Amino acid sequence: MTVPQHVAIILDGNGRWAKAKGMPRSYGHIKGCANLESLCDDVKELGISYLTVYAFSTENWKRSRPEVDTLMKLFRDYLKRCIKISDRNEMRVKIIGDISAFDQDIQDAIVKLEEHSARYDKLYFQIALNYGSRDEISRAVRKIAEEVKSGSLLPEEIGPNTIEAHLDTAGVPDPDLLIRTGGEQRVSNFLLWQLAYTEFYYTDIYWPDFNRAELVKAIDHYNQRERRYGGVREDKK
Ligand code: FPP
Repeated sequence: MTVPQHVAIILDGNGRWAKAKGMPRSYGHIKGCANLESLCDDVKELGISYLTVYAFSTENWKRSRPEVDTLMKLFRDYLKRCIKISDRNEMRVKIIGDISAFDQDIQDAIVKLEEHSARYDKLYFQIALNYGSRDEISRAVRKIAEEVKSGSLLPEEIGPNTIEAHLDTAGVPDPDLLIRTGGEQRVSNFLLWQLAYTEFYYTDIYWPDFNRAELVKAIDHYNQRERRYGGVREDKK
């Protein structure tokens, strides 16, 4: 089994998972959060080097106030617990997205976690919070425009590498495999630039039930496909 170097996951289905059990949506989010913790251990054990998860999109602020409040509380608690998870897995954590929209204590917890985990390199874990790909690309273009305005960059020097270097994911290889749980088959404004050559895997399993066996199934599926770049098989590149 070839293990993909970088796996990205759209965590979907917490609400429906809870509803199916006659429980409130918040219960689904609590279980979804616990599942993310154990999945990090599995990802590390399987030898995957990069994991990126979509936890809160720029559109998720439109959810009901009580649900957004519940999610913020979960993020607060999780960011603190994640220090231990990073120690356990020698895992570096990076938040992608515009974190300036979060309360100051959440922003502080993010900085603390990123600084603490910067010493590790066994697994690179990106959590997308207040993330939207169109927002990320707009912010990147704004930074590039500032450089052109200041004279440090010429318009004719701008190419794909320039864009890549100004994204939140700068320096991180593009995902090899994208998994979406919860039955929908959409990209939902996630890593639009980075997914150009990524294999997609969709499953009906709701996120809280997506365990190690399901991850291995997704990797098996990935292995059955022949990866192509512009019509050229990967092994012929
Ligand atoms: C998707 O289910 C879940 C979310 C958008 C919420 C955020 C994710 C978690 C709480 C998992 C843990 C993440 C971190 C960083 C602690 P949904 O609510 O869209 O489910 P539905 O489609 O069934 O309504």
